[in-house]
Parts: sequence; structure tokens; C-alpha cells
Amino acid sequence: MLLRPFCDILPSEITPPEIYRERRLFMQGMGVLAAGAALGIAPDAQAETRLAGVRSSAYTLNEEKTPYKAITTYNNFYEFGTGKSDPADKAGSLKTRPWTVKVEGKVSKPGEYDIDSLMKLAPLEERVYRMRCVEGWSMVIPWVGFPLSELIRRVAPTGNAKYVEFVTLNDPGQMPGQRSGVLDWPYVEGLRMDEAMHPLAILVVGLYGQVLPNQNGAPVRLVVPWKYGFKSAKSIARIRFVEKQPLTAWMRAAPREYGFYSNVNPHVDHPRWSQAKERRIGEFLKRDTLMFNGYGAQVAQLYRGMDLQKFF
Ligand code: MTE
Repeated sequence: MLLRPFCDILPSEITPPEIYRERRLFMQGMGVLAAGAALGIAPDAQAETRLAGVRSSAYTLNEEKTPYKAITTYNNFYEFGTGKSDPADKAGSLKTRPWTVKVEGKVSKPGEYDIDSLMKLAPLEERVYRMRCVEGWSMVIPWVGFPLSELIRRVAPTGNAKYVEFVTLNDPGQMPGQRSGVLDWPYVEGLRMDEAMHPLAILVVGLYGQVLPNQNGAPVRLVVPWKYGFKSAKSIARIRFVEKQPLTAWMRAAPREYGFYSNVNPHVDHPRWSQAKERRIGEFLKRDTLMFNGYGAQVAQLYRGMDLQKFF
């Protein structure tokens, strides 16, 4: 079977569709009568998908937000195919109700959370975060969610819980990409316990004030803004507290290319391309990649004394 992990796609290959899409968004902007919704800046106001009682948060970044349309049509979600538009085209087959998230492993209070009760675990906040994909593009996304630490506190990890593993739903019937061998399914990601407890790490259930679209990882996904996007596992069905460092889907697929930490780092290149620059979706010129994606003041102390070339 031909394995083609997403990072076998050369930056030169991924540029054309991106520019094409940007151009399309730009062309829409040229229409004199184009309203905000047609531009895709914000979602169309649909009362039934709007999340109630969302607070604003001090963790909000003051940068121009990526338009809703780009956030929801330019995605990586290999369970629905490897093309950037595949998730938006195909994720309609994912049933997000009923949905349970199993919390298990080294915790005193394991359990199953129905998604609607999980969403009420803590007040929902809007947090505008910078997101950086390992492929070299970035976006600024107004997520809606709550700190992962809120869930962790409730399940009371034991002293042996050193890492947290996040596992995506495994159901090839609903996720056609899982019928291919592009990754070893299900998708697995992981964090060290102190990373998982960091206030910036959130469980996300929405964006732009609306229920999370399937292609962005509905009904619940992780978001860890100082790490490359692939750490932010989508459509989570299981959260396991474990003693040993989890073997993540990307480490399993290409261990030389994807380490466990995967912190955004302009000084550690991917073996096949530089990480020094990035393209913000919607912009033409590249920007410098920021250490820890610009969140160094908040997270650098987690890695004090670690060789980040070795623990990439
Ligand atoms: N989660 C699952 N289950 N499957 C995936 O293929 N792709 C990752 C991450 N989470 C992925 C996933 C990658 S590579 C990125 S960049 C982000 O999701 C993209 O999130 P977005 O499409 O909401 O921007």
C-alpha cells in the first residue's frame, strides 16, 4: 500500500490550492454587493447552531481573524481524505449525536460523558488563538471551548498518570478515510500531564460562536495553540490517562519527522523543509514563525532544561 503521510506533500505541492483558495476569497471580496456572509468572514447567522452563554476570554489574541469560510473549507482531517477540501465535502456523514467521550486509565473517577453534559462542565469561552500547521500555513481562529484542566480536575488523576492520550472515533462506516491505510487508525495524540493542565490547552466545541462544524472536529476536539496543528486531535471519543508516553499516530507513521512534543519552533526544521517562515491564510507574503507559536511567555517554562532539538 502506498503510504503518503500529509507531510510527504511538498510545500511546493500544497501552495497552488492554497493560493487558489485565497484568490477565490479575494474575488468574492471584489463583488460590490458581497455581504459579510458571502465573503465568509463570519458564519451565516443561524439561531439553531449558535452556542448560548459564550463568555469572552482574556486569552484572546488581538489579530485579524481568518474568515469563517477559510477555517471551514481548508482542513486536515484524514478520516475524510487527504485533500484540503475533503473534510468539508465529506464530513457530513459523521453523526455527532448521540456521542460519548470515555475517560479512563489512571484516574480515580473514570466515566463516560455524554457530549451535551460535557459541554456544560465549565462555562464556554471564546478564545482567539493563532494556529500553525506543520505544513507551513497558519490561521487565527475564534474557538469556543473550556480548559482541558476542568475535565482533568473532575476525573482526579492518580499519581501514576503522567500523560494524557486522545483518541479519535474509529468508525470507517462514518469516516471513509479510515478505509485507506494512510494512517494507522484510530488517530491518537498525546500531551504530558503538565501540558494538558496548562490553561491554554482547551477542549473545543465551537468556532465563531457556532457549534463546531464536522470538518473542524465535531463534536469535541483538542486545541493546543503552541504546538503544530496535528497535536489538536479532532472528534475525540476516548481520553486515557497513562503512565508511558503515548505512541501518537504521526510518530507511528514517520518517527523521524514527527516527535512527541511538536512545539512550534522556527529553529528546528522538519527533515524535508524549513519551519522558519509560515504563510497566514489570506496573506501573500510569508511571516516569520514564532517560537512556541508566539505563546512562549506562557509555556516556555514547561520545557526549561530540555534540549528542544532532541525533544522535537
Ligand atoms: N485530528 C484527526 N482526528 N485527524 C486528522 O487528520 N489533522 C490534524 C489536526 N487534528 C487531524 C486531526 C492537523 S494536521 C491539523 S493542521 C489540524 O487538525 C487542522 O485543524 P482544522 O482543520 O480545524 O484547522
